Amino acid sequence: MSAAITDGAVKALISQLGYSSLYPPQEMAVKSGILEYERILVTTPTASGKTLIAMMAILKAVEKGMKAVYLTPLRALASEKYDDLKILEKLDLGGSKIRVTVATTDYDSSGNELAGADVIVLTNEKMDTLFRHNAEWLGNVGIFVSDEVHLIGDRERGPTLEMMLTKIRRNYPQSQVVALSATVANSDEIADWLGCKLVESDWRPTKLVEGVYEYGAVKMSDGSKFKVESSGVSSAVDLAIDSFNGGGQALIFAETRKRAASLAAKAVDGVYKRLDKAARELAAGASADILARGDDSELTKTLAQLVAKGVAFHHKGIIKILTATPTLAAGVNLPARRVVIASILRYDSDYGGSVPISVLEYKQLCGRAGRPKYDAFGEAVIVSERGVNAEELYDHYVLGSPEPLRSQLSNDSAIRFHLLSAIATMPGMKKPEIHDLFAGTLFARQYRSATV
Ligand SMILES: Nc1ncnc2c1ncn2[C@@H]1O[C@H](COP(=O)(O)OP(=O)(O)OP(=O)(O)O)[C@@H](O)[C@H]1O
Ligand SMILES: [Mg+2]
Repeated sequence: MSAAITDGAVKALISQLGYSSLYPPQEMAVKSGILEYERILVTTPTASGKTLIAMMAILKAVEKGMKAVYLTPLRALASEKYDDLKILEKLDLGGSKIRVTVATTDYDSSGNELAGADVIVLTNEKMDTLFRHNAEWLGNVGIFVSDEVHLIGDRERGPTLEMMLTKIRRNYPQSQVVALSATVANSDEIADWLGCKLVESDWRPTKLVEGVYEYGAVKMSDGSKFKVESSGVSSAVDLAIDSFNGGGQALIFAETRKRAASLAAKAVDGVYKRLDKAARELAAGASADILARGDDSELTKTLAQLVAKGVAFHHKGIIKILTATPTLAAGVNLPARRVVIASILRYDSDYGGSVPISVLEYKQLCGRAGRPKYDAFGEAVIVSERGVNAEELYDHYVLGSPEPLRSQLSNDSAIRFHLLSAIATMPGMKKPEIHDLFAGTLFARQYRSATV
């Protein structure tokens, strides 16, 4: 057990998790005061154990009789974090039991039903609606955790997250804020804006190597090179099968759901013939379970057919190859020794076409490979497509660093929307108060308050 930990409840949590020691970034967070109500921005690599940092702080707040809110950008991630946090229910806090709940529904409920829980997992969007309803229990929240906080820089989802954090700072100044992300280049600026201390580190529990595939060969960042057998079907699928042959599961990212589904279909033959009898039986069982849920949509039927062959899209489980769109990337723990980026393009609905992903998004995709729960190392490979030079991809993405986060409230329609929503949801709010609210945004900080 870590020398840094003398706290009884936290010790109990770590042993409940079965961990023998804290990871170095977790030690750093403890030394920085995460257990003593310090506001902290943690920017440490993917898979470096940021969840436990938040969990320790949550436990301390709940121990003091306060509520904890854990915010994530995605429903899939909210349910994964809910599963992680449920371990708190196994702890005994002097006879009382911790209650953990999750709310991600899109419908606009007032949130009063959440009053009975101690730890509440929410999507950022759900938090936004709860703020509008001003649920009474919000006053008893001692800690807000904001996971994947780099999404502030996302054009679509950034403004809501930025306004939410601004409101937390302004309306709940006594609450602890713990913000987490693997990819914040301008961490000093973001920490300063959030009023947080910074915990920063390059430590990752498993090695992650990145590379680019072109014409049947891969060049990796550790200097290694290897050839991949071609089936003539798809280079991305070949890379995934190659990982599977080496005993590792693979995750393929594709630019659209349609392409993700089509790549999954292409992977079926290669995967199924490599499954042994036991794996085939497991796959058949998982497939039957999916159908038994009673949802008979085309998508579910297709998924069930694929799962029977050991392949899936957007689905966890006994799967050897999983395909997904980049929206799945943030924060999730999946058994992927190798991440294959089938295309560096992503469909952008505003633009009405495909755009190259940012280095930040790319690093998040890579970060799904080599999660310590499942694998001892990870690999990420970009497939170089027709007309794109592999060297350029290597230089830009593999050698590149995430872009600094910029406020997306700079977008005219975003600021108008949030201004109107502030006026509509806080009746009686006077002009100076609205000015004060917006003066607290990252936007005001980055673009000078005069323009707000
Ligand atoms: N102290 C520890 N000892 C052993 N394993 C640990 C420890 N802390 C965390 N882990 C393992 O590390 C995995 C990754 O942790 P976590 O999901 O918190 O990473 P993260 O830093 O949030 O990454 P990301 O930026 O991708 O969200 C966990 O699933 C858990 O299995
Ligand atoms: Mg995480």
